[in-house]
Amino acid sequence: MSNISPLGTKPLRHVAVVMDGNGRWAKQKGLPTIAGHKAGAEAARRLIQAAVDHNVEYLTLYTFSSENWNRSEKWINELFGLLSWYLEHEINSLHEKNIRLKSIGERTRLPENIQRLLTKAEEKTKSNTLITVILALSYSSKNEIVRAINTIIKDVQANKLSSITEESFEQYLDTRSIPDPDLLIRTSGEQRISNYLLWQLAYAEFVFDTVLWPDFTETHFEKAVYEYENRERRYGRDVS
Ligand code: IPE
Ligand code: IPE
Ligand code: MG
Repeated sequence: MSNISPLGTKPLRHVAVVMDGNGRWAKQKGLPTIAGHKAGAEAARRLIQAAVDHNVEYLTLYTFSSENWNRSEKWINELFGLLSWYLEHEINSLHEKNIRLKSIGERTRLPENIQRLLTKAEEKTKSNTLITVILALSYSSKNEIVRAINTIIKDVQANKLSSITEESFEQYLDTRSIPDPDLLIRTSGEQRISNYLLWQLAYAEFVFDTVLWPDFTETHFEKAVYEYENRERRYGRDVS
């Protein structure tokens, strides 16, 4: 879904974040890598509150990419250990705050306990309305697009579909029914999108910050929003 609005008004419905720099943060402090991810999870908690304070409706967090499967088994196990702890212990508090949780990505590749916890969390919070927090897990955009195309091929073979439009294609993506991000924030100084939401970011504004993710606070969020508000989103039109 695209959210093109008249110039001059600047809705900020959906913010997508690449929470990068946890490993470097831990290294700088001489801590084990997992300590960086624990601190990163706290930063994510702060970000959710900041997004709520700014009336953001959707927040997508790049939590584990398809490419991250190439990291060491030890790292992967520790990360999913941390994630399962959060899914078990935080879900009630998210639910009490009226927060809806969703996930995108190749779910069947995730450890079974994570799949179970995600299903439970999504079911429990599905009617919540304050904000939708979307965890991108075992997610890569090229993988999402290819999975969508394979489903389309099946629908064509079953005579359910004969052609496709941008709008109907979007219904096959994991992000169906979620508006496209207005703003992408990436921390840690890297300026790339690392296979994140390639289709959905077509007209997003990009803000890069050098802060390492665990140090990200509401002030960094506000700075990114300020920068976003001062951009002119032209969607190909004349400069105003
Ligand atoms: C980003 O932190 C979070 C995940 C990939 C899960 P990194 O682990 O990539 O941290 P750096 O980039 O090595 O500092
Ligand atoms: C992107 O960060 C993925 C997540 C934040 C989950 P990476 O640290 O994995 O990306 P690259 O390797 O720097 O592109
Ligand atoms: Mg990184």
